[in-house]
Amino acid sequence: MTASVTVGKSAVTTTKLGLGTNKVGGHNLFANLKDEDGAALVRQALDDGVVMIDTAYMYGLGRSEEIIGQVLKDYDRSKIVLATKAAQDPERDYQANNDPAFLKQAVEDALQRLQTDYIDIFYIHFPDDQTPKDEAVAALNELKQAGKIRAIGLSNFSLDQIKEANKNQQVDIVEDHYSLVYRAAEQAEWAYLQDNDISFVPYFPLASGLLTGKYGPDDYEKFAKQFTRPAYDNILTGLSLVKKIADRENVTVAQTILAWYLANPAITTVIPGARNADQVRSNLQALTVSLSADDYAAIDQAFADFK
Ligand SMILES: NC(=O)c1ccc[n+]([C@@H]2O[C@H](COP(=O)([O-])OP(=O)(O)OC[C@H]3O[C@@H](n4cnc5c(N)ncnc54)[C@H](OP(=O)(O)O)[C@@H]3O)[C@@H](O)[C@H]2O)c1
Repeated sequence: MTASVTVGKSAVTTTKLGLGTNKVGGHNLFANLKDEDGAALVRQALDDGVVMIDTAYMYGLGRSEEIIGQVLKDYDRSKIVLATKAAQDPERDYQANNDPAFLKQAVEDALQRLQTDYIDIFYIHFPDDQTPKDEAVAALNELKQAGKIRAIGLSNFSLDQIKEANKNQQVDIVEDHYSLVYRAAEQAEWAYLQDNDISFVPYFPLASGLLTGKYGPDDYEKFAKQFTRPAYDNILTGLSLVKKIADRENVTVAQTILAWYLANPAITTVIPGARNADQVRSNLQALTVSLSADDYAAIDQAFADFK
């Protein structure tokens, strides 16, 4: 599909465009999802050469992992990079738990649901308040030595928490909120990640659909919790510039935005989520978009206020 990228210091290699699956079985997070649509969109991605599938216990409280595990039976497991996450503890009202024993059990449970004997990337989904982060990672490192996981990841950790977790240089990858309209990670953590050979995967790369260009001025209410009205209007202005570039290249706004991430070496793999197989197919066409340096810089500039 595309050139291969290596995940941190691990032996895991993948490609630059993966798949996010919180709408695969994520019934606790989104209304009106059908398991069959979820299974079909994962199949579409794998049929079209996607390597990295990003899931989590929290997506359907195990349902997403179960659906993916079922689909994977029809594919060559060795060609797939399976990433999952855990931390939310049902016995603590789904608050985060990073206790070593909890994480080890969470990996065992995920292996069962995914019907596999190894997980390529296991992320601690959220930090808790009590566990020393290097102890949590040491537990994952034991699982790595035992071959149950192949790379160690963190998600939603602050830079200080990442540093504490990475005391022994065992962290391979970080997954955090990042998009053209939420660029804090660029300043907050990219330098540390690059200096320490830690890969970066952004979540919400399409800002939950806003960066596909399918929403207009009348849809502000949907995004009112995230953006002020002036910020929202600023995003729509940026998107009109992207649309001009997209129209000229005969591609979509979403494909152009995804191509912008693909062109950035600080981003290891982009995992746009999808609701159905058509969105997967369309997003994969981003791989065919090659942005000129001028177009890349113009998009960067159009969303500079979100740095
Ligand atoms: N680590 C974490 O804490 C964390 C948190 C959130 C997400 N994630 C991961 O990151 C992945 C990506 O985030 P996300 O899926 O929430 O948000 P996203 O990638 O920013 O947006 C995905 C959504 O945009 C819409 N969309 C996608 N492609 C489209 C297209 N071609 N045309 C029109 N609409 C399109 C779909 O929603 P509609 O059809 O409903 O509009 C889709 O579900 C998730 O799937 C999950 O694996 C991780």
